[in-house]
Amino acid sequence: MLDPAAQRPVDQLADVRIQQGRIVEIGRGLIAPRIIDVTDLWIVPGLIDLHVHLREPGHEYKEDIETGTRAAAAGGFTTICCMPNTKPVNDQRAITELIVRRAQEVGLVRVRPIGAISQGLEGKLLAEIAEMKEAGIVAISDDGRPVMNAGLLRRAFEYAKTFDLPLVQHAEDLDLSEGGAMNEGAVATRIGIKGQPACAESAMVARDLEIVEWTGARYHVAHVSTARTVALVRDAKRRGLPVTCEVTPHHLALTDEACSHYDTRTKVMPPLRTTADQEALLEALADGTIDAIATDHAPHSSVEKDVEFECAAPGMLGLETALPILLDFVRMGTLDEKRVIAAFTGGPARAFGLSGGSLAIGSVADLTVIDPERAMTLTPDALLSKSKNSPFLGQKLAGRAVLTFVEGRLVYDLDGRMK
Ligand code: DOR
Ligand code: ZN
Repeated sequence: MLDPAAQRPVDQLADVRIQQGRIVEIGRGLIAPRIIDVTDLWIVPGLIDLHVHLREPGHEYKEDIETGTRAAAAGGFTTICCMPNTKPVNDQRAITELIVRRAQEVGLVRVRPIGAISQGLEGKLLAEIAEMKEAGIVAISDDGRPVMNAGLLRRAFEYAKTFDLPLVQHAEDLDLSEGGAMNEGAVATRIGIKGQPACAESAMVARDLEIVEWTGARYHVAHVSTARTVALVRDAKRRGLPVTCEVTPHHLALTDEACSHYDTRTKVMPPLRTTADQEALLEALADGTIDAIATDHAPHSSVEKDVEFECAAPGMLGLETALPILLDFVRMGTLDEKRVIAAFTGGPARAFGLSGGSLAIGSVADLTVIDPERAMTLTPDALLSKSKNSPFLGQKLAGRAVLTFVEGRLVYDLDGRMK
């Protein structure tokens, strides 16, 4: 088993006994009424994804809470946080309640909603943060859009601070990004697509950090994609600011070269960057500057994707490919498995103050069994998500969840071991 939060040895061979939804004992040769043999596999805390677009309410043709949570369980996730850019926007109690209720009805993984910062994501008036907090939001964000107005951001920080909620910024200075469809650089010039500069992200993070310093509020940078951004976050952490950040598997695995063939599945916001950025992100993940791996699972249908690159909606699927993509870095020796599992579990739990993320005795039995070598070729049929917008289709991916438990309850069973 692998439990970075507990600082147990990585290669500990152990049985985990679950009773009434909790981990009650860890050791060798434990006795229980039912035993599942997972010899040679990894038992890890259930994975936590801080950044998912479930699309319900309003865009159920792309994804809904049932298909999205099914995809999450298959990806090894036991908790996912869903972004408020639904229709209507999750900017008030009724919408938060609806999401929480639907997720409970479906009964697969835990869904923790993120509330909007501004009403309608319009960047003008603050959303009903207090009421949404009562209904269960764990953070606030206008994700999909940045908070451009610094005065509004300051007020949002002050408000969030009184509720101890992290504010999640989609860092993109719209005056700098100017609608660029990919990263500004040699590839964009070569293929004739308007780009957006890396500084569109880092300039906003630099501004935000000044306001964090002023307000003392918790700040989380969504999907960091540039070397400059991680340098700023590293420095802010060194100064003791309450700052965390996440990186997506696609920004770690791909660069703007992937856009060369105008494949709209490679169009994401922030855009795929350069090799130098990719290397800086890997280094920042390894040294702990980056707290969490978050998928930014962004399902879109062919209506949004089978169009010209510039017109296509940004976003790609992530829930079912995150683990194998990260395990590739482990196989290549770029990252160690303990660090990767920490960034999928304890790291995100701490960033948003969520329960879970460790296999401590007495904790709720959210856990995932991983076969690190299990290979598959990704096909549209294999994806449980309603949408199929993954640039990894057709590729061989290795390493996946074979069993996922939420509170001791089986929510995913790849091989029917539990039948
Ligand atoms: O690629 C993205 N897709 N980035 C975002 O910020 C929004 C997201 C979406 O909602 O599709
Ligand atoms: Zn975003």
